[in-house]
Amino acid sequence: MPRTTVWLVSFLAVANAGATIHLTRNALANCQQACGQLSTFFGSAVHYPDSDDFTIWDAKQQEVHPSCRVEPSSASDVAKGGGHSRNAGDSNSIGGVTVDLDLLSDIEVLDNGNKARVGGGATSVRVYHALESRNLSFVGGRVGSVGMGGFTLGGGTSPFSNKYGWALDNVFEYEVVLANGTITTASETHNPDLYFALRGGGNNFAIVTAFTIRTFAQGPVFTGQTSYSANYTEQVLDKVYNLFTDTDLTSDLEMGYDLYYSYRSSSDDFNLMGTQRYGKAIQNPLVFREIDQIPTLSRTTTIGSMSSVSNGSIPMGTTRNLFATLTVSPSRSLLSRALQIFQQEVESIKSVPGLDTNLISYPIQRNAIAAMKNRGGNALGIDLERDEPLFIILISTAWSNANDDVAVNRMTANAVDRIALAADKLGVANRYMYINYASAEQASQVFSSYGEDNFQRLKDIQKVVDPRGIFTSKGLWKGFVKLL
Ligand SMILES: Cc1cc2nc3c(=O)[nH]c(=O)nc-3n(C[C@H](O)[C@H](O)[C@H](O)COP(=O)(O)OP(=O)(O)OC[C@H]3O[C@@H](n4cnc5c(N)ncnc54)[C@H](O)[C@@H]3O)c2cc1C
Ligand SMILES: *[C@@H]1O[C@H](CO)[C@@H](O)[C@H](O)[C@H]1NC(C)=O
Ligand SMILES: *[C@@H]1O[C@H](CO)[C@@H](O)[C@H](O)[C@H]1NC(C)=O
Ligand SMILES: *[C@@H]1O[C@H](CO)[C@@H](O)[C@H](O)[C@H]1NC(C)=O
Ligand SMILES: *[C@@H]1O[C@H](CO)[C@@H](O)[C@H](O)[C@H]1NC(C)=O
Repeated sequence: MPRTTVWLVSFLAVANAGATIHLTRNALANCQQACGQLSTFFGSAVHYPDSDDFTIWDAKQQEVHPSCRVEPSSASDVAKGGGHSRNAGDSNSIGGVTVDLDLLSDIEVLDNGNKARVGGGATSVRVYHALESRNLSFVGGRVGSVGMGGFTLGGGTSPFSNKYGWALDNVFEYEVVLANGTITTASETHNPDLYFALRGGGNNFAIVTAFTIRTFAQGPVFTGQTSYSANYTEQVLDKVYNLFTDTDLTSDLEMGYDLYYSYRSSSDDFNLMGTQRYGKAIQNPLVFREIDQIPTLSRTTTIGSMSSVSNGSIPMGTTRNLFATLTVSPSRSLLSRALQIFQQEVESIKSVPGLDTNLISYPIQRNAIAAMKNRGGNALGIDLERDEPLFIILISTAWSNANDDVAVNRMTANAVDRIALAADKLGVANRYMYINYASAEQASQVFSSYGEDNFQRLKDIQKVVDPRGIFTSKGLWKGFVKLL
């Protein structure tokens, strides 16, 4: 059940009813009063925690309760999302008003199948599914329950990114509600500054009620899940490094590969795994022939639609989760070093109940970096230097109990710091930090990682579109990664 949230809602009511509900900060009493007022506009679309069956991915977010949750069903009503953030307050308000965009999920194919208009609260799997009836697809998530909203506003890396770039570089137009209740659009030609800011600026500028995105002809895809004995780690890393960097392989734009080094308390072991992806219905694509020479512990392959491939079941509201990230330039020796560091750090928290921790890496391919310059460019500040890709490293951990939060946070921060230091020594550090993978501790560095000019430009645009600072950390929509 997808969800996106916002701390306040006065603007919805403003847009809808022409009356202003003034919420002074998020004081509980004010929010409770606001919820009462919202009920008069939204009726049964306002839900109170004691009788709400709302579910959300992360247990830390499931545990906090807003004063109420509103499910608007149109832009003039306002907007939904996927609820895949990790920190209490990111998607579910603590005591305030949660705006759940999950009814805004209409999908309409336009322009002879070259574009689609998708509601701001749709999930990837719903969009894949709707487009597949026309043999089309879009730049969506690996996991189907991820929402269009947070995914696309922050970046959006997809199995299709080698060919088409990141999700944020495949949006032609955003339909938005601004902080003062104005409904407008942003594109390369209309509100181009806001268009730039929405390409990477997260939840700081507007509530997006609809995205007009690129669609493309697409049939079933190949997906291969492989795992390897620790004996073959270095050989596998050699071949993975080639898949990430060798232009003979990366120039096959159908190809994608995600590397996982994982520890699960259920099996008490570290595992090296890889997901092979290919955009055509071909068993064992040739691009993987070298890595396929290495003996596997297991290998399962499927050819299927993206809606089925991405529709695995993930636990909702039961696991606690932490992401933290860094970005590096290619270095084969750093890959080995990163796995060693991760393993050393995980050893110290192996007894944490329910531990499932993963070091994940995949490239930002040259072609995806080039697409970041289309239509005036995005806000991320990633440049194609020396014609090289970059690697994203994500440490993603799930565990069971609140009393292990501190230990998991410490392990993760230590691992990221040590890998960053190793990258620095090798001369392959990169400043960019992916907002959708940043930890709460890293949040204050995300926008400066876009580069000084883009950081300043985003702040200038924020002041113009939201002069009262309603969408800033001092305003009413405080969760997730804030620019100001
Ligand atoms: C299982 C899983 C798989 C993932 N796979 C990928 C992947 O393949 N590629 C990738 O790049 N990332 C991936 N991610 C990371 C994902 O991009 C982020 O977690 C993202 O923030 C989730 O967006 P959401 O809309 O689902 O979450 P939410 O928690 O609903 O949204 C995140 C933030 O964005 C805001 N927001 C959401 N919708 C809107 C909107 N319409 N207008 C304005 N603000 C909005 C919310 O208020 C919230 O503050 C994955 C995460 C998980 C948990
Ligand atoms: C995804 O899986 C769920 C649960 O198994 C199922 O109800 C739903 O129909 C599936 N969606 C698609 C598009 O396959
Ligand atoms: C989609 O592709 C399949 C297989 O090629 C074909 O049989 C079907 O007619 C196509 N559907 C549409 C709507 O084009
Ligand atoms: C891995 O190496 C160990 C020790 O060298 C050996 O006993 C084991 O058989 C190897 N496993 C595989 C799968 O090759
Ligand atoms: C709402 O904000 C936008 C951006 O600052 C501004 O252009 C517009 O005039 C404002 N509308 C109203 C009704 O205040």
